[in-house]
Amino acid sequence: MSELKNDRFLRALAHQPVDRTPLWIMRQAGRYLPEYRATRAKAGSFMDLCRNAELACEVTMQPLARYDLDAAILFSDILTVPDAMGLGLYFVTGEGPKFERTVRSEADLKQLATPDPEDELGYVMNAVRTIRQELDGRVPLIGFAGSPWTIATYMVEGGSSRDFANIKGMMYGNPELLHRLLDKITQSTIAYLKAQIAAGAQAVMVFDTWGGALSPENYQIFSLQYMKKIVAALPKEADGRAVPSILFTKNGGQWLESMAEAGSTGLGLDWTTNLADAKRRVGDKVALQGNLDPSALYAPPAAIRTEVQKVLESFGTGSGHVFNLGHGIHQHIDPEHVSALVEAVHELSPAYHS
Ligand code: CP3
Repeated sequence: MSELKNDRFLRALAHQPVDRTPLWIMRQAGRYLPEYRATRAKAGSFMDLCRNAELACEVTMQPLARYDLDAAILFSDILTVPDAMGLGLYFVTGEGPKFERTVRSEADLKQLATPDPEDELGYVMNAVRTIRQELDGRVPLIGFAGSPWTIATYMVEGGSSRDFANIKGMMYGNPELLHRLLDKITQSTIAYLKAQIAAGAQAVMVFDTWGGALSPENYQIFSLQYMKKIVAALPKEADGRAVPSILFTKNGGQWLESMAEAGSTGLGLDWTTNLADAKRRVGDKVALQGNLDPSALYAPPAAIRTEVQKVLESFGTGSGHVFNLGHGIHQHIDPEHVSALVEAVHELSPAYHS
């Protein structure tokens, strides 16, 4: 494989000196880009786009063609895993993801397959290999998966949920069944992420979008514990380079101390946590990624620049920070506003690195 030409992202995660703060954007390949919408239309559906390695590669590269970003992220979805476990994923416009089958009983659990990542999920590994080739060492490629808890919410509810009625009913009423489900998802996710790394992913991120809906005690038991198992099972090195891991629990700011003990290289933060506080609380144990409010991108460029400055200032000087939004970019953001964000990070962040 070719030499990595831009390793700022990996260096920042390792707390090694960088010339400026590295930057990528959650959901950087997505509907705010007209070229994404065109490729998606050509593919037919979102899942057809994910299943086609050439097209998945094309959309992965689109944000990098427009902006000087420091990492690429595999174009796929966290719900490919429960789909491969046999639940039948589909998307309804305006309603988000749905499953044909749910997991609410012992019998449902027994039906679940443990997918072979190079078989049922082979299309993801093909995308990883195709993207690595196309990147040709320009920036590192991030692989990812959902946290077992977050994946379980979709499997039990059958789609997106506001109150998590079914999974919380299971959590309080039959915790043992939920633990067996989480364990199955954890085993599938470990195999999936290991395969992504073997196929060429140079860092991995675990998205725990719904961990913040748990009580502090249940967060430890039903979410963090399983993410810890995933991190512990992953290879720490591939191709002679460290493979960093990032854990992101949306609304997880109150649990940073215990998250920092989970063994990952970095933690992703949303905008409800102050970076300076976070840094004080976790010390040098983990690097931090985030955390501009994605809605700041609705504002004009001058205001975006001010907000970028505030994020940089709150982390302060030194390595250990990866600039990102605090959650995925919204679909109605003007791509020109993203240019303003990228320019601001490029121009303002060198002052924080000597
Ligand atoms: O960051 C990236 O650019 C990589 C691609 C990526 C997608 N989804 C592409 C996508 C990643 C990392 C995800 C993760 C994901 N998917 C999460 C965790 C992160 C988060 O945002 O909290 C979750 C909860 C999902 C499940 C999911 N997939 C939802 C809720 C939706 C949105 C449905 C909708 O209609 O708004 C998706 C679909 C999806 N995944 C899209 C993209 C670009 C939009 C689909 C489209 O093109 O129609």
